[in-house]
Amino acid sequence: MIGDVIVLLGAPGAGKGTQAQILAEKLEFAHVATGDMFRDAVADGTPVGLLAKEFMDKGELVPDEVTIEMLDERLAEPDANLGVILDGFPRNVAQAEALTEALEERGGKVNAAPYIEVSEAELVRRLGGRWICRAEGHSYHEQSKPPATEGVCDIDGSELYQRSDDKPETVKARLAQQLGVLGEVVEYYRGRGVLAPVDGSQPIEKVAEDLLTAIETVVKKEG
Ligand code: AP5
Ligand code: MG
Repeated sequence: MIGDVIVLLGAPGAGKGTQAQILAEKLEFAHVATGDMFRDAVADGTPVGLLAKEFMDKGELVPDEVTIEMLDERLAEPDANLGVILDGFPRNVAQAEALTEALEERGGKVNAAPYIEVSEAELVRRLGGRWICRAEGHSYHEQSKPPATEGVCDIDGSELYQRSDDKPETVKARLAQQLGVLGEVVEYYRGRGVLAPVDGSQPIEKVAEDLLTAIETVVKKEG
């Protein structure tokens, strides 16, 4: 049976990847990030990667059919039984409904949906100064989270690069395309009683602390 499932919600640049990594380590859950999976597929030149690249470059969502199938296969991996932190999925209500169904089939559900809230101006600042590691997608920031050695990941020593969708014009498109549908997903989970908003404008460690508290509260509520 699948373990507890935490859906980490937040706009592009809100800190989902940063926080998912911390939470996955603390809770010993699997970190499942659809954006990272697509970037791996692009790097490998697979058919999914070729299709995904077209949409990612425009700041648009990759079609649901492809995304849902990829996620469903990932949830079937044995480490999902430990518990899962979902980072970047679901991105619209159709994906949220597909997730509910996929989890029901495996005897699970979304236990908590913490929502990292950050202002639009701060999202633009964060994406503009971001560097990502090649190996695992660990996030850094020129000002708020510089690596110990420039251009090198503190965790796995791999090279840091800037994502092609972090160019100013693509950031603009991502926010324009995706903030509205994120609002619908937030309402979906509010309606199911699992939404837990967290102030994402605080330092990384404080956001992590608040997320852990929020997750505990929501999981406890259901006994
Ligand atoms: P995805 O990879 O999911 O990107 P995203 O949602 O745009 O989010 P980001 O990864 O840009 O930001 P993040 O919230 O992880 O922030 P991070 O921790 O890095 O998706 C990319 C594309 O793939 C999509 O546009 C779409 O095309 C496609 N895709 C993916 N999933 C899909 C799906 N389900 N359906 C359809 N298409 C899909 O932090 C950002 C920066 O801020 C970093 O520099 C970090 O160091 C810094 N930072 C983090 N926290 C703080 C803090 N508290 N204070 C100061 N700085 C901070
Ligand atoms: Mg991310």
